[in-house]
Amino acid sequence: MFPFQPHLIDLTHPMHTAMPVFPGDPECRFQPHTDIATEGYRVACLHLGTHQGTHVDAPSHFLSDGATVESLPLTQLCGPAILINLESKGSPGSTIDVPDLAAYADLILPQSRVLIYTGWDANFGQAAFFVDSPGLTPEACRWLMARQVSLVGLDLPTLHPSLFAETHVPLLSAGIVVVESINLRPLLPFADEHIHLIVAPLPLTGLDGSPVRAMAAVWARPRPGGSSAHSTVHITPVTTAHQMLDAFAIRDTVFVEEQGVDMREEHDALDREALHLLAYVDGEAVGTLRLLLNGTEATVGRFAVLKSHRGQGIGRALMEWVIAWAPTAGVTKLKLHAQTHALGFYQSCGFRAHGPEFMEAGIPHRTMERDVP
Ligand code: COA
Repeated sequence: MFPFQPHLIDLTHPMHTAMPVFPGDPECRFQPHTDIATEGYRVACLHLGTHQGTHVDAPSHFLSDGATVESLPLTQLCGPAILINLESKGSPGSTIDVPDLAAYADLILPQSRVLIYTGWDANFGQAAFFVDSPGLTPEACRWLMARQVSLVGLDLPTLHPSLFAETHVPLLSAGIVVVESINLRPLLPFADEHIHLIVAPLPLTGLDGSPVRAMAAVWARPRPGGSSAHSTVHITPVTTAHQMLDAFAIRDTVFVEEQGVDMREEHDALDREALHLLAYVDGEAVGTLRLLLNGTEATVGRFAVLKSHRGQGIGRALMEWVIAWAPTAGVTKLKLHAQTHALGFYQSCGFRAHGPEFMEAGIPHRTMERDVP
């Protein structure tokens, strides 16, 4: 179980009979095949195109020998994604060109999944959605291809309203997954969060695309009851190897270099089963802790904030995240071994000390705990 329950956000437009379709595509019709009154059970018959609603394009959509939809790698369809807000491009006939994307060059990296919001989704469900929509220029598609992104998702019906081959061929021939008519509007409040995209096409063997259920998992910071003096601190659970290295780097700096703890003692096997948190300020990882779960109890450990950032509310923000998260994971008690110099910090977070002082890693400690309401 992954006890950091993500917030799941549906990015799929609902589908229904007679919904407007891309000009020339099959109409969308759901009709009963059997009924409870007559056969005793309900089965429906679907009539629709492979590019109906929120959907994925397989390479075979434009390439005669291109891969078909059932072979799209799940690892490419699901994973971290970035959301680019190009709302200024949401008017009829707007083009998204290289400079519009290049402004985000530091985010659009090899293997990135890039989600482009324009606001054009406001027209979804009307014939107008398919008329004179904004589009990516062929140059912008080639730019994305050169960046070696793995997926491009847009809230548009197609990459470009008229330059079909010029835009699809560069992306599809590079093996880039194209997701069209994805509803990115509900994701806007989470644009700065870690977004984990899930795009699930049906394995329609030999076909050129499929409607999908698209969703995003976000681990937005719960709103803590208290206040943090630091307004820009951003807390996130560690979900990638890169973040794990950030957490280890902070611990090495604080515990090994600053406090002289033996490196072999600092890194232990519990790191593999622990849940780790990171605190970022202005994109820099500055604080971390780990949580070990045991039924309704969680033990907080390896709590460190870089010296340069102490006394700014980052430690408190991390602990407030834990206190807000605990009930969602069924945790009712938090425990920790506090270095005695930090007793005041933990007391200010509602912990009480128990038992005598003891030595751990050559540093005096006391056991502390608090209930979680
Ligand atoms: N003693 C008493 N109070 C302390 C304290 C300390 N050592 N450190 C912080 N506080 C208080 C702050 O004054 C603040 O109180 P306020 O909100 O009333 O102003 C509150 O605790 C929160 O402080 P904050 O700025 O959020 O703490 P921090 O970001 O500096 O992080 C530690 C606290 C302990 C994580 C950080 O000092 C640290 O990394 N220390 C080195 C590593 C370490 O010892 N880790 C603990 C291992 S058990």
